[in-house]
Amino acid sequence: MSVRFDGRVALVTGAGGGLGRSYALLLAQRGAKVVVNDLGGSKSGGGGDSRAADLVVQEIRASGGEAVPNYDSVEEGEKLVQSALNVYGRIDIVINNAGILRDKSFARLSEQDWDLVHRVHLRGAFKVSQAAWPHMKKINFGRIIMTSSVAGIFGNFGQANYSAAKLGLVGLSNTLAEEGARFGIHSNVIIPMAASRLTQDILPPEVFDALSPDHIAPIVAWLCHEDCEENGSIVEAAGGWAGRYRWQRSKGIVLTDQRTKMVSLENVKDGWEKVIDMSEHEYPDSTQGATMDVVARIQESMSSDPGHSSDEVSPLSAVGYTSKPVPFSYNFKDLIIYALGVGVSTKDKHGLRYLYENDEMFSALPTFGVIPAMSGLEDLVSGNIPGLDFHLANVLHGEQYMEILKPIPTSGRLENIFRIQDVLDKGSGMVLLIEVETRDENNELLMRNQNSIFVKGSGGFNGPRNSKHLTPVSTPPSRSPDKTLKHKTTVDQAALYRLSGDLNPLHIDPAFSAIGGFSSPILHGLCTYGIAVRHVIDGFCAGDPGAVREIKARFSKPVLPGQTVITEMWKDADKVLFSCQVQETGEKCLTGGWIRIQGFNNSKL
Ligand code: NAI
Repeated sequence: MSVRFDGRVALVTGAGGGLGRSYALLLAQRGAKVVVNDLGGSKSGGGGDSRAADLVVQEIRASGGEAVPNYDSVEEGEKLVQSALNVYGRIDIVINNAGILRDKSFARLSEQDWDLVHRVHLRGAFKVSQAAWPHMKKINFGRIIMTSSVAGIFGNFGQANYSAAKLGLVGLSNTLAEEGARFGIHSNVIIPMAASRLTQDILPPEVFDALSPDHIAPIVAWLCHEDCEENGSIVEAAGGWAGRYRWQRSKGIVLTDQRTKMVSLENVKDGWEKVIDMSEHEYPDSTQGATMDVVARIQESMSSDPGHSSDEVSPLSAVGYTSKPVPFSYNFKDLIIYALGVGVSTKDKHGLRYLYENDEMFSALPTFGVIPAMSGLEDLVSGNIPGLDFHLANVLHGEQYMEILKPIPTSGRLENIFRIQDVLDKGSGMVLLIEVETRDENNELLMRNQNSIFVKGSGGFNGPRNSKHLTPVSTPPSRSPDKTLKHKTTVDQAALYRLSGDLNPLHIDPAFSAIGGFSSPILHGLCTYGIAVRHVIDGFCAGDPGAVREIKARFSKPVLPGQTVITEMWKDADKVLFSCQVQETGEKCLTGGWIRIQGFNNSKL
């Protein structure tokens, strides 16, 4: 099916020639109404002429499209946006493309050269995008393009002013991508290379001819389309080729002296090779991710004992470790607190079944089974297990599998035994595969959990990368989900969920979560797990929690309390496959999920 923009209103700045003209023509040809902005100045920003915009508008109209001209400078962003609102009543797409060049070697660059270039490129994009922002928010949709340049990424002789402004646009776009995601507003960067008056003196003639701006326009138009999920990306395009940039960072090294706790200049000199060594690297893709990794490394180095080398005992010697039985007692109140923690309400169809101990169907949610199984795991960070020597702050929950063999009683005294099935070496960290068997008072096996725990910064011990013990995640089918359910968590969801046992301050204390690089405390992954399984029970088990036999899912991204969890579900033989995303950001938070259901048949779909 052809890609169309019917009903959309696009503002293209600097569209009187070059790349902007191609963008405007293509969008209009595909049904968008276009505001063609250009003040028609010289390449260095002097003068002004309304003909540039008028000619493009005429071209569009001549081929049956809709367009209006605007001759204001992008520095007066609100006037450009007002043109769109006056004529078309809305604004969906902003392509910040206007630009000028005032190239000089750095020593000869005047303040005016600096200011003019910044005013058009960076300030102009800020002004236009900010004027459009509230209108995009109102319609819960927006696509913004910033135009950067390879000169911004790498620098270029004679372009100090231009390259600084162009990289500034990358920062601006990345922040708008973050702030806009929950309003359906996406912002991306295009790095074009095309034949235009700005490049005719720079590009060799044979290359110049192959680089028509028309090769860039479809890529930019796709980034502006409602079906394009790209947000916060930097895409380069030239002559029919397109690719994406990302940041790469070396593993680096903590240079702090273990004894003095200070960084000395000598430490820096001696460690420099490791600071800049890119042979081990990562690709941080958010402020949060980038900061979290660094904080974890600092904490790891602080927690290691200078007199003791932790690699004396390989983490592999932990494989097979089996704990003593760890007792766990609970009663109806624990079940109710857990159910409230995963968002059950007295207003739900089956709410009282989990919230009222005198309800005749009073039951445990199947995912309550993870709670006893977590109770023995503190031992992992006690330093008592040979080969395991790491800090709690470096631990992330990777995946969770559970099998329920008998109905979970509504109260009882259970015993857990955990066993380290495997220790995997993932380079940047290690994965501990831990099986927990939970038995009831008759010593009968009630459930089996498998926790996959990722420990940042503890890899590189020549261990295996994969394990035959790991219960695999699923691959969701490409068809649209058979059922979709959503649940809006409350701002106090994590405060409530933690009462079931996981008291990590990361989920409640803003100061602590800030150290971990999070903008606010995050919801427990297992809380989202509980919400997703409730969706499957409601969607496919007619509300019967007893039908659930096995559950598996991977924790991909955190959810913030107050956000909405959307669960997409597909029936697949005796299983329901599922994955969850955060409605406000569109990010997947739980992936590869599957649930095996007893007595599952087609009639339940
Ligand atoms: P161009 O000079 O043909 O187009 C720029 C347009 O912006 C001109 O029509 C100009 O009148 C207009 N303009 C300048 N100042 C303005 C203002 N204050 N308000 C409104 N309009 C204004 O150049 P080209 O090559 O099409 O460049 C488009 C964008 O792509 C620019 O931002 C440029 O820096 C960027 N770019 C282009 C590359 C290329 O290979 N052509 C490479 C990297 C970036």
